[in-house]
Amino acid sequence: MYIGIDIGTSAVKFLLVDEAQALVANIERPLHPVQPKPQWSEDDPENWWQAVADGLDVLARDHRNAMSGVRAIGLSGQMHAAVLLDEADIPVRPAILWNDGRSAGEAAELAQLGTDLQSTMGVLPMPSFTGPKFLWLKRNEPDAIKRTRSLLLAKDFVRLKLSGEKVTDISDAAGAWLIDEEKRQWSGVALEACGIDRALLPTLMESPEASATLKRDLAARWGLPANVVIAAGAGDVAAGGIGAGAINPGDGFISLGTSAQIFLADTAHHPDPGRLVHAFCHALPDRWYRMAALLNGAGPLSAAARWTGDGDVAALLAEVEANFRGPSYLLALPYLFGERTPHNDPLARAAIVGMTHSTTRADMVQAVLEGIAFSLCDGLDALIGNKPRPESLALIGGGARSPFWAKLIASALDLRLVRYEASDRGPAFGAARLARLSVTKEDARDVVVPPPVRDVIAPDPLLHEAYQPRLQAFRGLYKALVPIWP
Ligand code: XUL
Repeated sequence: MYIGIDIGTSAVKFLLVDEAQALVANIERPLHPVQPKPQWSEDDPENWWQAVADGLDVLARDHRNAMSGVRAIGLSGQMHAAVLLDEADIPVRPAILWNDGRSAGEAAELAQLGTDLQSTMGVLPMPSFTGPKFLWLKRNEPDAIKRTRSLLLAKDFVRLKLSGEKVTDISDAAGAWLIDEEKRQWSGVALEACGIDRALLPTLMESPEASATLKRDLAARWGLPANVVIAAGAGDVAAGGIGAGAINPGDGFISLGTSAQIFLADTAHHPDPGRLVHAFCHALPDRWYRMAALLNGAGPLSAAARWTGDGDVAALLAEVEANFRGPSYLLALPYLFGERTPHNDPLARAAIVGMTHSTTRADMVQAVLEGIAFSLCDGLDALIGNKPRPESLALIGGGARSPFWAKLIASALDLRLVRYEASDRGPAFGAARLARLSVTKEDARDVVVPPPVRDVIAPDPLLHEAYQPRLQAFRGLYKALVPIWP
C-alpha cells in the first residue's frame, strides 16, 4: 500500500493506492491562498502542513487496515514556490507562489545574462520562478532574508514536517530557475545571479529515491508502520507525467488544474527558451520534458462560478451544455494571474467582452471555457512550433472531469483527448507510484504505464472550423488590451 499526497494550490489531494495500483481512498482538503496585493499570490506553509495532517487523520480514521500496510509515502506539489525558514525551521514570511508576478523586474534583469544561460536553465527567467523571487526579497525584504536559513519548495516543507529532513527532488528544483537541467545539478552561475547561498538549499535527489523516513510519533498517530519511507517525489507537473505514464517521446498530456500545462516527454534536454517553452528534468533520472505552462487553467472557471453567484462548477457546466448552440458571441481572456506561455506578461488580466442586456450566466461561463481552450491553442503552438502536431494527448487534472468541456478543448485544438480512470488525480497518483519505486526494486518502465482509459474525446470538425475566427479574435483582443493594463 502507498500514499500519494499532492500539495496543490487550492487543495491537498491524498490517494491510498494498493499493490495492483488500484485506488483504495481518494480525499482532499481545501487550501485558501491569498492575493494581498495586485500580482501577489501567497500561502502560509503551515496551512499546507495543517491540511496534510488533517487529511492523514481522516485516512487513519476511515482506512485503518490499509494504513497499517503502507510501505511508503510519495509527495508532489505546486512548483516554483519560495518557502523561507529561520533557524528554528519556522517560516520567515508566507510562501510566494507560482502565480505571483512581483519579481518581473528581477526576471527581466536575469534575462540580460543571455540565451546560453536560459538554455541551461531550460527556460527564460520569469517571475513565477523561485530564483527571481529570492532576488526580489533580497532587495525588498532584507530583514526576512537576514533571518533565512533554508529555502525550500512547497512539498519539501511538508517533508520536513513529516521527517525532519531537508530534501528536494530534481524535477521540482528544475522549476526554480536554479538547475543545470542537462547535468541535473544546482547551477553555480544561476545561484550567484539570484544571490542565493548554496547552504540555504536542501539535498538534491532523483524523484524515485528514498529521501527520509516518517517520524515515529506521526507513524503512531496515523496507524502507519514504523520506518515508512518518504520518496523524494516530484513537482506536480512531472508527478502528473508519472501518473499518466508519460515518459517516452510521443507521450503527452494536458493538465487542467488551477493552472494548465501541455506536456511532452523526452529522453534528452531540448531547450527552446525563445518560444517560452519550459524544458525541465522529468521525475526519472534519464528523462526530461518540454511544456507550455499556462497560469490560468481551470482557475478562471472557479472564479466565474463565484462571480455568477453559484460556486457549484458541475451545475454551471451542465447549464452551459444545455444552452450550447456553437461558439459564444462573447470573448473571454482567462489571464487572472497574468500569463507565462506564450506571453510572459505578469500584467495581463482577464476580460469578458461583447456583453449585451440579454447576456446570461451560461453565456459568460461558456466564453470562459472557450477562452481557456483558446489559450491552450496558443500554448500548443508555442510548444510544437513547426513540428507535427500530436494527434492525441491525455487530459488530466480536475478540469478533466467534464466531457463537455473536453469536447470544446478537443475541437479548439483539433486533437483527440484521452481520459483515464481517476485522471483528475494525476499528480497524487504519480506521487504514489514514486513511493512504490522508492521501496521496490522494480523497473520504472513496468510501473509507470498509462492507466486504464475511461474514454477518448474526439474533436468536432464543424466546431473546429467555427472556432477559427473566434481564435483569431481572441488573439486580437489580448493585443488590443495590452496597453490598458496598469
Ligand atoms: C508549472 C506551474 C504550476 C504549478 C502549480 O510550471 O507553474 O503548474 O506547479 O500547479
